[in-house]
Amino acid sequence: MALSVKHLLGIKDLTPEDIQLIFNTAAHFKEVLQRPIKKVPTLRDTTIVNLFYENSTRTRISFELAEKRLSADTINLSASTSSVNKGETLIDTVNNILAMKVDMVVMRHSATGAPHFLSQNIEASVINAGDGINEHPTQALLDGFSMVEKLGDLAGKKIAIIGDIAHSRVAMSNMHLLTKMGAKVRVCGPPTLIPKFIKSFGVEVSYDVRETLAWCDVANVLRIQLERQNKPLFSTLREYSMFYGIDKKMLDNLNKEIIVMHPGPINRGVELNSDVADSQQSIILDQVENGVAVRMAVLYLLAGKKADHI
Ligand code: CP
Repeated sequence: MALSVKHLLGIKDLTPEDIQLIFNTAAHFKEVLQRPIKKVPTLRDTTIVNLFYENSTRTRISFELAEKRLSADTINLSASTSSVNKGETLIDTVNNILAMKVDMVVMRHSATGAPHFLSQNIEASVINAGDGINEHPTQALLDGFSMVEKLGDLAGKKIAIIGDIAHSRVAMSNMHLLTKMGAKVRVCGPPTLIPKFIKSFGVEVSYDVRETLAWCDVANVLRIQLERQNKPLFSTLREYSMFYGIDKKMLDNLNKEIIVMHPGPINRGVELNSDVADSQQSIILDQVENGVAVRMAVLYLLAGKKADHI
């Protein structure tokens, strides 16, 4: 079994079979991560560079940990400490790194399409760790994997994505993944934060968060991406929180128990109150834990190793 792609640039490019293969492989690696010795020799002699041109806590640590658990050699480069600051281009930076015999590149960049551009210009496999407002494929994969753990098959499950849909690469990748896997998807947020073309992705739209919480099995709540908004799209964060913020009382008023997710970083008191983020219904830290196994699966499958190497 192999993925249909050489690079992981977006969920848009994956087939449902690719996604299922990643989930199955991640389940195996999750079992590996429960062992006293969490390291396997699978990617020994493989060198991976993590190029982060934009801030990250979870994704960067998760990729590095996944690489180390697979025994790969890893190099980390941040834009803030690299020769990018002396005017070097992205291609020149990467070609210099590849000249040192690097096999795979993990890249986060604020420019939409940066990993796609890179993949067209280098031989190594490229993994998109988030590009602008386009896609964050490994986040959607770990989100989907975490949902499957809790709910089983995604087909027919009702998943709400709530918040700043317009500027969220997590929303975009989740919409692609969940619709490919047969889930019913609804996006919810203020009209100014939901693109007009969104229904072409096969999702429902709601502007009413209480009605959406009553509808869904899972609420995947997103941060307001203020750093990507050129002009104000709502009055104040306080007003956003009043209309779209989720607190425990809202969950307790539902006549069912839904699952609450968030990709992080959370802005507590804005999109989620702490009494929800830290509640039994929240699987936010399960998502982070699953991220390592999912990224191990992606690295392993893109490296093209045989299953008996695990
Ligand atoms: N979810 C996510 O991408 O978090 P980071 O920005 O901290 O990597």
